[in-house]
Order: sequence, then C-alpha cells, then structure tokens
Amino acid sequence: MLTPRRGSGQLIYNLAMRHHFILLLFCSLISAQTLRQAGAQRALLMGAAADSSEQSPDPLVTDAMYASTLGTQYSMLEPENNMKWATIHPAQNTYNFGPGDELVTFAQAHGMNVRGHNLCWQVYNPTWINTYATTATPAQMSTQFQNHINTVVSHYAGKVFAWDVVNEAISDSQTGTGVVLKDSIWYDQPGIGLTGTGYIEQAFRWARAADPNALLFYNDYNIEAPGAKFTALLVMLKDFVARGVPIAGVGIQMHIDTTGYPSSSGFAQNIQAIAALGLQVHITEMDVRIPVNSAGVAAASDLAAQAATYSRILTVCLQNPGCTAFQTWGFTDKHSWIPSSYPGYGAALPFDLNYQPKPAVASMINTTQTVAPVLSASNIVNAASYAAGAVAPGELITIFGANLGPAALVGTTLDSNGNVSSNLSGTQVFFDGLAAPVIYSLAGQVSVVVPYEVAGKSQTVVQYSYNGVLSNTVTVPVTQAAPGIFSANASGTGPGAILNLNYTVNSASNPVAAGGVVVVFATGGGTVQGGAKDGAPAPGTANQSLPVTATIGGQTATVSYAGLAPGLVDGVMQVNLTVPTGLTGAQPLVVTVGTVGSQSGITVAVK
Ligand code: G3I
Repeated sequence: MLTPRRGSGQLIYNLAMRHHFILLLFCSLISAQTLRQAGAQRALLMGAAADSSEQSPDPLVTDAMYASTLGTQYSMLEPENNMKWATIHPAQNTYNFGPGDELVTFAQAHGMNVRGHNLCWQVYNPTWINTYATTATPAQMSTQFQNHINTVVSHYAGKVFAWDVVNEAISDSQTGTGVVLKDSIWYDQPGIGLTGTGYIEQAFRWARAADPNALLFYNDYNIEAPGAKFTALLVMLKDFVARGVPIAGVGIQMHIDTTGYPSSSGFAQNIQAIAALGLQVHITEMDVRIPVNSAGVAAASDLAAQAATYSRILTVCLQNPGCTAFQTWGFTDKHSWIPSSYPGYGAALPFDLNYQPKPAVASMINTTQTVAPVLSASNIVNAASYAAGAVAPGELITIFGANLGPAALVGTTLDSNGNVSSNLSGTQVFFDGLAAPVIYSLAGQVSVVVPYEVAGKSQTVVQYSYNGVLSNTVTVPVTQAAPGIFSANASGTGPGAILNLNYTVNSASNPVAAGGVVVVFATGGGTVQGGAKDGAPAPGTANQSLPVTATIGGQTATVSYAGLAPGLVDGVMQVNLTVPTGLTGAQPLVVTVGTVGSQSGITVAVK
C-alpha cells in the first residue's frame, strides 16, 4: 500500500496554510505596542494621511519624529495632497510625481501599504484645467480626464493598492430620488459628455484599465450615518454593482467631533449596507476635533472624550468585518487641516504637537485587544475546497474573518502528547465547548480540525477565541462527510494535490500513465474504522467508515485505499486511485464519500 513520505506531509501542510509557507513557532501573545501591531492583530490596516515635498519644509526629510512615528505606528499611508491634480498635474503636459514617489518609497522602506487620493474632485484642481474647462468641449474634457487617470494610475500600478477614484461628488442636498451630484468640470461644466453618474463610472473604468489590481473606492463625507446623502450613495452603488462597474468599496471620511455623530448603530448600519453589496468600507480621513487654547492645547476632559470617540468608532469597525481599514487624516497635531478650517478647534489627531501619544492611542490599542472577534458561519469553509456549509468529523476547515489573532502567521505546534495543539499561541476554536486542534493561525484566518466528537450530532456550536477574548457563537450543521480535495495551488480548483507512484507531484509536466496509481489528498471524509484521535498524527492506515468511490474523466476509478494518511494529522484523507485507461491530459477528478462528492474543478494530469 502506497504510504505518504515526508514530501506529502509538507505538501499538505503548505496546502492547508493557504497563502504562507512560513513556519513561525513563536506566539504573538505580545500585547500590541503600536497602532500598527494593534491593527495587524485585527487584520485591519491602520493608516494615516501624510505629506512630503509638496510641503515646505518637507516633514518626511526634515522632521525625524514625523518619519519615525509614521513609519512605526502605521501599516498604511495616504498622500494628503501630493497625488491630487493640483500637485501631480500642475500643467497640461506636466506631471509632478516627485512628492508622491517620495511617499511611496518611504512606505516601501517601512513595509507600508499606499492608498491613493484622489483621481477626481470638483475642487482644488489646478488653474490650467479649470481654465481649459471654460472653453473645452465635453469630448476634450473627456480626453484630459482619461489621460490623467491613465497616466497617474499606470505610474503607481503595483505601488498603490487602493485608490479614491472619485471624491465628494454626491451633493449634500438630495431630493430623495436618484442621485443629485455636485456641479463640476467633470460632470456638467462642461462635463465629459455623460449624464448622471456616468462620469464617475467612466473614471472607475479608466482606472481599472490602467491598473487591473488596484482596489477602487468612492470617497465622501456625511455618509457616516443613515440619511438622504447615504441613501443616494446606495442608489449609485447598487447600480454600479449590478452593472459590473469595478468598484471595490467606499471611503467614509469621518471628520467628526465628540458630540456623538455618527451614532454607533447608525455607522454600523451603513457599513452593513455597503458590505451587503459585496463592497468594503475604509475609514479614510478620521479626525476628532476638540476645543483648544491659543497654544493649540486641549483640556484633559476633551482629550478623554476624544479617546472615547476614537475607541467607539474603531469598535464599530471591528464589529463589522466589512470595515477593513482605519485611517486618520494625518497623525500628529503638528500637521492637521483642522485649526485653519475650524477656528478654536484642533488637537484632532492621535499624536500631539510633539509626536507624543495622546489618550486616544492607548484607547485604540486597548479597543483592538478587547472587542470580540466576529465569527460568521458563511466564513467557515472546507480547508481544501473552500465550500461553506455543514462540517464533518475530522474535517480540516478554515475560518476567515475572525478578526483577532496573531499579527504574523503561526504554524502548527505539537502538545506534550505529540498531537496538534488545541491552543495555538492563544488561538482556540471550540465545538460545543471542545477545543479543536489548530493547524495554523493568523488574524483573520485560522485552520483547525473539526473534533471527531461531533460525529452523530445534527449540529455543533462553534466559537473562536484569542487570548481569552471570545467571539460570538455560530451554529453549524454536522454531516457525516463533506469531502474536499486539496488543489496544488491552494485555490480549491485546478490541478489536485496528487502524488504519482514515485512520490513526485502529479502535474501537466509530470503526468501519471493511464492505468497508473495516484495518491490524492483531501479532507472531510468523516469518521474512520477503529476511530481517530483529535490532532493525532495518523499512526497508520484506517479506512473511512463510509464507502469511498471516485471518477476520473467521468469514468470509475478503482479506489484501493481511502482513509487516514499515515503520518499526517487525523482528518487528512488519502485516497489511492487507479487511473482508468483511455484517458489523457487534465482529467476531472471527483471523490465521493457515501453520497457526497468533492468539489468540481479538480483535475489529475494523465499522460
Ligand atoms: O502646495 C502649496 C504650496 O506650494 C503653497 O505655498 C501653499 C500656500 O497657498 O499652498 C499649498 O497648497 C495647499 C495644499 O493643501 C498643500 O498644503 C493648498 O493651498 C491647500 O488648499 C491644500 O489643502 C488641502 C485640502 O484638502 C485641499 O486639497 C488640505 O491640506 C487637506 O487636508 C484637505 O484634505 C481634504 C481631502 O482631500 C478630502 N476630504 C476633506 C479633506 C479636508 O478638507
């Protein structure tokens, strides 16, 4: 009987860990010291708007504390001004990428993401385009608009992961039907020849054409809570999503004070409405202005109210997984637009004039360590096929979105009995209160083996925990079998995780001969004869309890063994198959346990 060698164990381990081949044994029980670490433990980007050489002097090079605070406290930055038309396109045939490139270089040097802002706004445009618009035809404006988007987005493709494509286009006064837009050179003065939200849609399509990977956002203010403006926004979003406009999400600016707007329930409602369309929410420009004296200093009571406000908004973001980034509009009170825009107010950011953390920083870090992670049944999937639904005893599953966990990937550890530990660096997943073996853990993605003790039940109550912070519970149906075949590229489809007779990986360049035997790795086969032990490496072979059949190319493939994979954790199912003759090329492979078949789309390469 063909038993797996070390290669296959590593193959399965890597396949289980979808995106990573790192084995980190140290745990991240470390309490977060920076906003960046705090965000990483929540799978949340923590960002700040930043300036560079469009400012004189350039804070990034002349102010060491500016650079060090930005580079250590944040995992994302956004140019406050230097990717806007006024800075980056100061004359018709002149692009000024210097300031933007400087920030991108800084971000790359500090392992930070860059969020671009913005490709279209009705104000603060350079004089030349405003003048041009006074005599240009819509067709001419369209050309200028497309050229700008194409030039800027292409320049930053692969460096800017997300763009505010259009900023603040929706009017603050709505009529209640449709979407009332602000007048602008892009819309109606003279516009680019499209009606309604046409110019916004066009901007998204041009941005997508220039960068097939960037996440494209619509960004605005006064959409933090339900209201006429948000309703109008939803009308546009629903239309865009329905017609395949390449929008990925909405930037909610969040320029607020401590008076209570937006309410937590109102903000949550808006995030949920946007997430329901399959879109993300980024908090893009948060600041919390408070009264200050002539020296720009605030009272302790206002600083405390500010800290509570930052914590409250962050809490809503963490409680709604659709919210994937939390960014402030600057980070130090030394560089903020608030004092010049709101006389008597200021001190709106987490770090003070001397870059010292204000109460808001500690409150945000504490919030990330205490707000319960969110668990949803639809995010509990077979680790091989990614199919959600019922779980089977011994099934390797992956849980996405439980947004509290190690900032860096933690791989399998064995307990004192040599079994896969059921507490991996603070990560635990309970099934009816029983802790499951944990394969790997990372904030937002964890893989475990469903305990065999669920066998015979109709459902199981699942709960996630990190460092003792418990998630909500979800009830998931239990089934005898839910087979999924691991794929070679961890996508859940395509060439399977299959070994040929000589223990080499089956592939188009290394196919099996028809009539030959292959070893297929899967999970979700359910119980095995003689029983299995949670987290134990399979001591030897043990047949699946239920009958296992298979087809290759739609033809019956003889199953010579289906059961535990010796040496691999109980729950990985090994199936030895004989490839029917008369087949060649990539052939669809389906393994059926009992009456339940594995996912479609998996292939085996036949010579
Ligand atoms: O760069 C020039 C400089 O050369 C010149 O000497 C100086 C004096 O006039 O002006 C500088 O340009 C200023 C620019 O900021 C860079 O500092 C502009 O006058 C000034 O209007 C611009 O203000 C920015 C404003 O957007 C307009 O672009 C603010 O810093 C920035 O915080 C603000 O940010 C906006 C977001 O983009 C969208 N949401 C609201 C938010 C606050 O208004």
